[in-house]
Amino acid sequence: MPVYALADRLDELGRVSDEPDRLTRTFLSAAMRRANALVGGWMAAAGLEVCEDAFGNLIGRWPSSRPGARTLLLGSHLDTVRDAGRFDGALGVLLAIAALEELRARGRELPFHVEVLGFSEEEGVRFASAYLGSKGFCGLLTEEDLALRDAEGVSVEEALAAFARGRASAGSPLRLPETSPDLSRLLGYLEVHIEQGPVLETEGLALGVVSAIAGQTRVKLTWTGKAGHAGTTPMALRRDALAGAAELVLAAETLARENPPLVATVGTLVVEPGAANVIPGEVTHSLDVRHPEDGARLTALDGLERAAEEIARRRHLSLAWRPTQDDPAVPCSRDLAAVLAESVREIQGRSVELASGAGHDAVIASRLAPVAMLFVRCRDGLSHHPDEHVEPEDLGLALAATVDFLERLAERERA
Ligand code: GLV
Ligand code: MN
Ligand code: MN
Repeated sequence: MPVYALADRLDELGRVSDEPDRLTRTFLSAAMRRANALVGGWMAAAGLEVCEDAFGNLIGRWPSSRPGARTLLLGSHLDTVRDAGRFDGALGVLLAIAALEELRARGRELPFHVEVLGFSEEEGVRFASAYLGSKGFCGLLTEEDLALRDAEGVSVEEALAAFARGRASAGSPLRLPETSPDLSRLLGYLEVHIEQGPVLETEGLALGVVSAIAGQTRVKLTWTGKAGHAGTTPMALRRDALAGAAELVLAAETLARENPPLVATVGTLVVEPGAANVIPGEVTHSLDVRHPEDGARLTALDGLERAAEEIARRRHLSLAWRPTQDDPAVPCSRDLAAVLAESVREIQGRSVELASGAGHDAVIASRLAPVAMLFVRCRDGLSHHPDEHVEPEDLGLALAATVDFLERLAERERA
């Protein structure tokens, strides 16, 4: 498939949004259903068998005729953050389809089955916990995951039930899988993704091979004080929940600044009752903490939890600290990374390895299969922003490297 067609598809998918003027596509939303129909059509045009599982994951299968064939998974996610760019997640899915189209155009028969996966949830926007799509696909959703609630109070379990009812009544254009994936015979999982950071751009390279994915923990904190009149309540008598939360936001920033490469972010914050003349009575916010080394991440979290408790005691607030996600760092498969590095060297002359600070579906896939990730340079290292951009030339190199990787893997599997 020519690169401009891939770029056009990324543009077209980037217009499928839950919001009129910006790209936002969250788990099981109306835009997600439209995105699955659109991408499912491209999968079908590429000759793949298309279905959509009960978790909203889009699946395009290319079965091998080889007896006893194993399965290679190629995937990434089709959900987005709020006001997202067009490449985060979508690139890995659309590029995988394009790579298979290219192999079919070359008349290749692969000695392994291939499944292209468009996971329905990776960003953790709706339920403040990431990877619900890949966990569903891999059979790893827990009771705690199913009990998570979104801002409207709907649980994951209820959202999945409503999705199933919607499928049945609206007559979804995508059929359910007739067989469940045979996860015991996996050859591996490859995810192509924009780097979302500046390393490749600094190196002057379009492509790089991921060595490991940093661990991450997300916590939901609720601070409860007492609402009251902003004009009449003396400062000494206040129990201001937002002032307590603000102290923790700054403590997290200071801790991370003083301990690189630790990163800590508060990205959502809701103030109740939420009026200019009312002392904040309750504040709920997120906390996202990451480090390539698990020990350092856990030490930082422990320190922040103790700091939060101290702030709450001193300010006479009550505090709920609820972890919603906790994923250790994941090393990529040395074996698959070596094959991918050969492909990258073939395409751009040189290969570099780099770690991922962002989370990826590969984290969950790694519990079932060896995983590899190909990173693609993005302009200014910018991501989770509408200006996210990949040069068409780099798309072409990523596509060529992915096709080369599949050819090498096929040769190895036949041997
Ligand atoms: C996903 O993009 C994440 O790293 O939060
Ligand atoms: Mn992503
Ligand atoms: Mn993302």
